[in-house]
Order: sequence, then C-alpha cells, then structure tokens
Amino acid sequence: MKAFFIFSIFIVFSLNSSNLIEASKDSSEERDDKSKGCKVDLKTSFSETSPLLIQNEKLYQPKIKDKNLIFSQNEMIEMYCEEWTNFVDNNNEPLKGSVIAICENDNNFLIQSQNTNFPFEELKCKNLPKFTRKQTITNCYNEDNDAVLHEIGYQIDNNRFLSLYESCFNGHRTWYTKYTIDKYWNNFVKFTRPLVFENDIFDMQKNYFSANVQKENLGKIFSGNLPSEIQELYKNGGFFNRGHLAASSDFIFPSNKNLTFHLINVAPQWKNFNEGNWVRIETATANYAARKSRDLTTYTGTYGVINFKAYGVDKDFYLGDSILPVPMLYYRIIINRNKGVVFLGLNDPFPTNTNDIENYKICQDISDKYSWDKSFDAWNMHRQNISRGYSYACELNEFLDIVQISDIKQVSGVLGVIRKDHFRKNSIIIICVAVILTLTAGISLLFCLNRRKKWLNCCSSKPLELKTTNNYDRLVEDHEQHI
Ligand SMILES: *[C@@H]1O[C@H](CO)[C@@H](O)[C@H](O)[C@H]1NC(C)=O
Ligand SMILES: *[C@@H]1O[C@H](CO)[C@@H](O)[C@H](O)[C@H]1NC(C)=O
Repeated sequence: MKAFFIFSIFIVFSLNSSNLIEASKDSSEERDDKSKGCKVDLKTSFSETSPLLIQNEKLYQPKIKDKNLIFSQNEMIEMYCEEWTNFVDNNNEPLKGSVIAICENDNNFLIQSQNTNFPFEELKCKNLPKFTRKQTITNCYNEDNDAVLHEIGYQIDNNRFLSLYESCFNGHRTWYTKYTIDKYWNNFVKFTRPLVFENDIFDMQKNYFSANVQKENLGKIFSGNLPSEIQELYKNGGFFNRGHLAASSDFIFPSNKNLTFHLINVAPQWKNFNEGNWVRIETATANYAARKSRDLTTYTGTYGVINFKAYGVDKDFYLGDSILPVPMLYYRIIINRNKGVVFLGLNDPFPTNTNDIENYKICQDISDKYSWDKSFDAWNMHRQNISRGYSYACELNEFLDIVQISDIKQVSGVLGVIRKDHFRKNSIIIICVAVILTLTAGISLLFCLNRRKKWLNCCSSKPLELKTTNNYDRLVEDHEQHI
C-alpha cells in the first residue's frame, strides 16, 4: 500500500511539474508579446481599406492570437495599396504601390520611406489591388483535356503576381477550385459583399444567373409547363445561386474574401441546397481547421450535370447555351498531411426515394461508419434531408478513382473522424502498463524493506537470541504491515 501511494504521488507530481513548466512558458511568451512585438486588433484596427499584406513574396500568412495579428519586434512586412490615402510620393502625388513597414511596438509600425511611425489603423488604401486571372497551361482534370488551371490573385507592380486560389476551368465550367483554409480562419474582420461578380470568362451581356434567364431556360426544358414542385423552389429572385466553390468566409482578410467573387469560382447551385446542407459542409470544414488548428488543403468542385429524369425530361440542364451546366453534385475535399476526406452533396432536390439517392452515390458512403469530430455535428444533423441537398462523405482515395484530379496524392487515413476503438485500445494498454509498474514497484519495495531488516538483524550488535525470531513469521508480519 505504502509503495503504491509513493508511486502514485511520484506520478502525480511529475505530471504536475510538467504542467507548471508549460504554464510558465506560456506566460513568459505573453509577456514577450506585450513588451516586444506588435498586435493588430482584427476587429477594431483592421478594415476593408487596410493594405494588402505581403511577406516573403507571398500573400501574408498571419499569426493570430485572441483576434489579434501578432508580429514580432522588428518584423518586416510589405504593405501594398493601388493608391494610398495618406502618403504622397516625391512629386506630392498620392503614393502608389508598396511601403515597407517594421513592427515597433503595440500596433505601431515604422514606415521606412516616410521615416515615421503609424498605428496600423492609419495605414489605409484609397484603392486595393484588383483581381487578376492568369491562365496557365497546366492540365488539371484527367477526363477533360480542355481544362487548365487558372490562378486568381493580385498583380503587384509589373512583375509580381500573388496567387490566392486556382480554378480548373475548361471554358464553359469550373471543375474545382483549390486553395488553403487557414487554421486561423474566422470572420473577425467586417466584410461587405461586392454587388457584382467579376467576369472575364463569359459574355457579360448574357447575364446567365439572372432570374429571367433561369426561368426562360427552365421553361424551355419543360416546354413552358414548369412543374409546381420546381416553381416552389423559386425564391429571392431565382432558383439558382452563384454557388461559391472557395467560400468568401474561408479567408481572413477582406481583400482576399473579395477575390472569391469571380465567376470562375462559381457554379449554378439550387438555393435550397446552397442555404441548406452545402453551407453546413462549408462551415463544418472551416470550423474543423480552426478547432484543430490545422491548415487544410481544399478542393471544392462539381461533378456531372443534372437532368430532370424524375419529370420525364432526360436532358442535361445548362444555364447558358451549352455553358454553365448545373452540376449534379458538389464536393469538398479537405487534406491535412497524409489524411483526407471528401464531402458530397446533391445539387438536385428532386430524388424522391432511397433508390434514387443511391444513384447519386459515386463512392461508398462512410458518413455512418465513423464518429465525426464535433465540428461536423451541425452537418450530420440534417445531412440526409433531401430538400436541403442530401449529403454524404467518402474515403478520398476511392473518390479520386472516380474524379481524377491529377495533383492529389493518395492519403492513408480519414480526416475529421474520431477513432473510438483505437483510443480505447491505447487507454487499456496505458492502464495495464501502469498497473504492472505499480505492482513491480510495490513488490520491490517490500523485498528491499525485508532485506534491510534481515541485514540489520544479522549485523547489528543486538543480543543473539533476537536472531532466532522465525523469519517466516516476520515475513508474514511484514505483509500484514505493508499490504
Ligand atoms: C472588392 O472588389 C470590388 C471590385 O470588384 C471593389 O470595388 C471593392 O473595393 C473590393 N473590396 C475590397 C475589400 O477589396
Ligand atoms: C427538411 O428540411 C426542410 C427545410 O429545408 C424542412 O421543412 C423539413 O421538415 C425537413 N425534413 C425532415 C424530414 O426533417
């Protein structure tokens, strides 16, 4: 018993002391942040007119703590405006382009060219840099030779292009958009959605997403007799939304959010799906990145084309004349290190029974096979509701056999799930090891105490008759004392 107590106390103490070390590390880091670095409050100091931040020739990847951007002292950062509000150049004209800023303290930055300190909120753009789309020659979808990657980002100066996301586009549809959901993702900064989408890929005049065009094209398919179930889906000016692939909410800075409003990052999506299970998939995956503090490589895309078989119309449906097909499925792949998973949703509110649903499963549904991280709770709740867009999850490797995206490597596990049995097995092993260690320690202690007594007996100068005490009795005595 005694031995067990001593052993447990030892364990408890060693656990505690390591916690103490962690705690003291934390508080010293915090002190450093306060006294040495800079903090920019995303809620109060950052705004829609704040400059574009660039570091190491890339879009700045922030460090965020408690809704503050964190910079270390003397950290250098490039800030870019198409045109600044409060800086002038040598000719007294409004300054254009980059300044180099150095973190001094609090939220003050030394602007090198001005030789002056400014609090971050005074660094403002009259104009932010505009969208730039760069078409590459990289093929991006094995089944479609016309599909190549297009990079969407900012053209900085004449020779620098900073990419935010890439879309795989074939001239009339986008297969997917590829980007990273930042682990610090969150909607800290106020953002006003632009009124129009950038469009340098389709005929501007045609206005494919307008309610009139949608109605007209649906009407054509049904020869003027739109079924009442479909008519009921008309709301807020149409049947279809411009379904974002990369969601604006997946990005932190307003200028980056703004770049998702480009028609290359969009596909026609039934409103009830867009506002139903699709937004839940978006929110769940982004929440997962934040909760687990992991950057997620993300591919969000579309598969197939819907038809209206359930209504006896077996024609693929496009919003334009053979452009902008209305996809049958939307999917979102998330990958972190060697794990990944894909979520899929039916962009078709019309299947009426489970057999129909099975036709939309292009890979084995694993939604019920695993327990999901709690970030996915809200998705799980209504995911099988057809009018919100039935949705499910699949193993990534299996999905990639069907949807062949050239640059994704095989993964070795499912991301986002809790491996219950794995956890249980580990805890049983830990408990067993602890019990064995405790028993071993206890027995050794008993043995030592016993040996020590024997040794004292044999070598002490006490009278000899004591030595005649029955060893067996004493051993029994010892056991009674110690157990
Ligand atoms: C978003 O883009 C529009 C033009 O497409 C521009 O007028 C607006 O200033 C931009 N806003 C931000 C926050 O970048
Ligand atoms: C499915 O969702 C709709 C709302 O989009 C709701 O009205 C309906 O009751 C839900 N169906 C089920 C079976 O929960």
